[in-house]
Amino acid sequence: MEMAGESRLEASRELVWDALNDPVALQASIPGCESLERTADNEFTATVVSKVGPIKARFAGKVSLSNITPPRSYTLTGEGSGGAAGFARADIEVSLDALEPTVTLLRYGVKANVGGKLAQLGSRMIDAAARKSADDFFELFRKQVDARAADASSSASPSVPVGMEALMQAVSAPAVNGAVNGVQAAPPAPAAAERAPAQGSASPVSPPQIEPRDASPASATPAPPAIAPAPSPAAPPAGPPAQAQIASHQAEVMDVLMSEKIKVWISDQVAVVTINRPKSRNAMTYAMWLAMPSIMAALDRNPEVRAVILAGAEKDFCAGADIPEFEKVRADVAQATAYEVAVDACCDAIANISKPTIAVLRGYCLGGGAHLAMSCDFRFAAQDAMFGIPAARLSIIYGVRGTRKLLSLVGLTQAKKILYGAQRFDAKHALSIGFVDLVAGALAVTAPLSLLERLIGAKRHAANSDPMADARVFAASLAGNAPLSMAGAKYLLNGMAMGTGGLDLGRAEALIAAAAGSEDYREGRAAFAEKREPRFLGC
Ligand code: COA
Repeated sequence: MEMAGESRLEASRELVWDALNDPVALQASIPGCESLERTADNEFTATVVSKVGPIKARFAGKVSLSNITPPRSYTLTGEGSGGAAGFARADIEVSLDALEPTVTLLRYGVKANVGGKLAQLGSRMIDAAARKSADDFFELFRKQVDARAADASSSASPSVPVGMEALMQAVSAPAVNGAVNGVQAAPPAPAAAERAPAQGSASPVSPPQIEPRDASPASATPAPPAIAPAPSPAAPPAGPPAQAQIASHQAEVMDVLMSEKIKVWISDQVAVVTINRPKSRNAMTYAMWLAMPSIMAALDRNPEVRAVILAGAEKDFCAGADIPEFEKVRADVAQATAYEVAVDACCDAIANISKPTIAVLRGYCLGGGAHLAMSCDFRFAAQDAMFGIPAARLSIIYGVRGTRKLLSLVGLTQAKKILYGAQRFDAKHALSIGFVDLVAGALAVTAPLSLLERLIGAKRHAANSDPMADARVFAASLAGNAPLSMAGAKYLLNGMAMGTGGLDLGRAEALIAAAAGSEDYREGRAAFAEKREPRFLGC
């Protein structure tokens, strides 16, 4: 018998991992468990009373943990004899994905065998009983985790978000050599061959790096040279006007970081950048547009970060620009022009970061929010996501960069429909026109419960409908690939998507040559020859 499922827990991955290794929490979660005692580091003896159909028996046996990779996964094996009833054995693979600082997705896969009298009950009855036991286990385990999370939050001191101090230093640092806070100056950056490899020393314009909160063992590698952002000639990340704006609004930008209007969290080599004004549906203020390039530049230079997820706090992604603020910061033509420069600089910084980016889209994604989403490489939506560009309801012309991204995603007619019509559309439609790449849980087929399952009170597991879970799995798969290769592909594709003249062929050739001369190229070939996974450093 085999089955799989998942459970979303409102607690940090470390807390869930501790509970998974605590005999008290395990005993309280295993249905019918009368005792669970540790006999060795990863072994316990257990007594469990269990009822399968008409057979009720007390099973005595042992529980052992193997394949342990803290705090991510282990295999729990339970085997026991129920005397005349027969015997049972289950191998349960458990893995934990940190979706957010205090949200963990627990996935499990169970392989179970029974023998003796139990085996004569028939597979349907055994399957139903096993599923019910799994449901009960995870329900009880959730209660254990909730209680621990409540204890932890009442005793926790206010946490400083990862890297915010470093970011604040970066933002307050004076401009050096025409760059502000590590944002590259307008002229095209030197070719990759000149700067990607062999730059052990810090560049004078490098901002401090954001440190990961829970650096994984896999990420504890020697720091490779930073990969600088790859500005597209057709869309420089932040030209002099944008830099001047950032410099002249330093206080507001600092406020964005200190008040956590944009938060950064790094885990498992993936940075999650969260737009955090949920009461205003995560609308972007002028200062937030200005702050984002510094954040992207810091993430681009941090070798621990291999992929970036952009998300909104709580229910929505982003309802666009903060409209009430327009009276103050977008009141006349000059201000409107400066405002658009800041929006473009923000979106270009996201589009041009050399690492793969995924937008996680829940709730509203409107106007400037859609531009943020379109600036990412991929868009993963929730089923409740609603999209739209209501510029025609505000007498605003959507900017050149945003319009170009929309056109290349959905084509001319759909782009016109979206811009002229200013209508909202849902996730299903967004998927059908190519605006998003995935709708979480859209393809899941939920089979109805069998009569037997209903009789014994089994519950149907909801299909995963959180795009963050999909985004993290995808980001993790990308994090293992060669950073120079992905950065080069991104530079080429973004440049080509800009149309004629959008690609600097010289720079493209230099990137290709730099990858061909890299340590990672040697590592890729060695790993192939040795039939093992490559370990890329990005240099
Ligand atoms: N700027 C600032 N605040 C915004 C906002 C925006 N773009 N969008 C929503 N909010 C605020 C609302 O003012 C409201 O604040 P309040 O509770 O202090 O009144 C809060 O978010 C909730 O919004 P509300 O309108 O009450 O919720 P709703 O469910 O009825 O509608 C939206 C949600 C997103 C459809 C609607 O708020 C809307 O159309 N927003 C503007 C979207 C837009 O035009 N964006 C493009 C800007 S260029």
